[in-house]
Amino acid sequence: FGDRCLAGFKVVVSAGPTYEDIDPVRFIGNRSSGQMGFAVAAAAVAAGAEVTLVAGPVSLATPAGLHRRVDVRSAAQMHAAVLEAATHADVYIGAAAVGDYRPQEVSAQKLKKRDGGELVLHLDENPDILASLSAQTAHPFLVGFAAETHDVATYAQGKLRHKGLDMIAANQVGGGLGFEAADNALTLYWADGSVELPRVAKTELARQLIARVAERYRATRA
Ligand code: PMT
Repeated sequence: FGDRCLAGFKVVVSAGPTYEDIDPVRFIGNRSSGQMGFAVAAAAVAAGAEVTLVAGPVSLATPAGLHRRVDVRSAAQMHAAVLEAATHADVYIGAAAVGDYRPQEVSAQKLKKRDGGELVLHLDENPDILASLSAQTAHPFLVGFAAETHDVATYAQGKLRHKGLDMIAANQVGGGLGFEAADNALTLYWADGSVELPRVAKTELARQLIARVAERYRATRA
């Protein structure tokens, strides 16, 4: 299948962080820049796919040739946008760093300083996008990411099983890799195999990931 390994495929990619608002000026977010997910979307376009990119709050240009870009802010918005876009998709690749929790209440007014008193934020768990998709009877080929500071392989393989994924791309956070960096390294795991993709620019790494996704898709679904 070579360079056009996803020709005729519909692919949905999520990218970037989510922001969970606390009040009109504050939010809970994370360090994802969106670079990894945008590179994956661009690589999927280059491989011939019709690509929808669901992006959290990032400042990145839309990759050329994209079918559709949907910009969202919160995890709940990303959940809704991905589920809608994935209805007829062949592959979903979750590169976004989705917030696991959101404030129970979003204050309509700016919270004021408490002059020495502590401030307690109550958080509710956000729904898991990948788990929601894998619970559907007919769902796309599911690729998750796992960003970990320690025990990367163990946590990644746990997420592969618990979220019902076809493949997971694990990355170590720190040391100039992962969040915000231009380079990354990934270890891909699936039910009965794994492969290491050593440190390289995210654009090239995304190309290698897409080739592996196309290969595994054909091995399990064709
Ligand atoms: O954006 P960059 O600066 O380029 O950085 C890239 C990256 C490090 C963010 C990316 O490579 C990466 O690893 N993304 C996943 C980050 C992460 O923290 O994932 P997680 O371990 O919290 O979640 C595991 C998987 O479940 C992910 O595919 C995530 O999209 C998905 N998830 C998580 C929570 C949730 N509510 N719904 C989900 O679908």
